Amino acid sequence: MSVILELRNLRKNYGALAVTDDVSLSVEAGELHAVIGPNGAGKTTLIHQISGLAPSDSGAILFDGQDVTHAPMHERVRAGLARSFQITSILPGFSARENVATAVQARSGSSFRFFGDPSRERALDDEAMEALATVGLTARADIVAGQLSHGEKRQLELAIALATRPKLLLLDEPLAGTGREESERVVETLQGLKNRYTIVLIEHDMEAVFALADRVSVLVYGRVIATGAPEVVRADAAVREAYLGEEAA
Ligand SMILES: Nc1ncnc2c1ncn2[C@@H]1O[C@H](COP(=O)(O)OP(=O)(O)OP(=O)(O)O)[C@@H](O)[C@H]1O
Ligand SMILES: [Mg+2]
Repeated sequence: MSVILELRNLRKNYGALAVTDDVSLSVEAGELHAVIGPNGAGKTTLIHQISGLAPSDSGAILFDGQDVTHAPMHERVRAGLARSFQITSILPGFSARENVATAVQARSGSSFRFFGDPSRERALDDEAMEALATVGLTARADIVAGQLSHGEKRQLELAIALATRPKLLLLDEPLAGTGREESERVVETLQGLKNRYTIVLIEHDMEAVFALADRVSVLVYGRVIATGAPEVVRADAAVREAYLGEEAA
């Protein structure tokens, strides 16, 4: 397998605190790579560094053969990096399909130049509906987004991310705040996306992580203390001591 994302000695300081500290990590094309770690370990910060929301203080980010360490966010999106936000980017007054169509339109820009052209409208809508189908929201396409359940909103966010035609999806706690049934649905959706997309997943729900991940990296105090197959990481003495504790028992 080839490496699509490589982080080399990445660091981010907030004041005197090294929030991510010498993080080296590689993500292979096609894998679902989970990043786990205790609250405040630096997981979201790491995602911000990869997406370009937070500049890195040192180290390098190589994505799909390109050095994007200092590239602005929109360039990274164009290169194929998509993230779903922990804080939602959904337009609540628009239907699910309109939300996704807006994202498709934002991506395609000048390739849909003929404003008002019905074939253009259809192409936008077709692609939006395809993304909604991928996340299991076909039946909810015409519901105003503000009226979707919390879990459905997370699914819609995924569809919006897919509309950018990403090579890699960065997902920060897609199960946060979902109830049991909803979280099962989101896990099912992620199962469906897995193998079609390369995914970096941050998640606290260990059951979901161990069910979904091909590999797991463990971040503690900004440092990667282990990377490997889920069962290897689960059995790692340092990981158990630093983080998993009784959960792994
Ligand atoms: N913009 C910021 N300015 C200053 N400190 C920050 C900033 N963002 C994050 N931090 C600090 O960096 C540390 C890591 O935060 P981060 O949100 O990356 O952790 P996390 O692993 O995502 O935690 P959680 O599991 O709770 O989401 C925390 O101590 C946090 O207070
Ligand atoms: Mg976080």
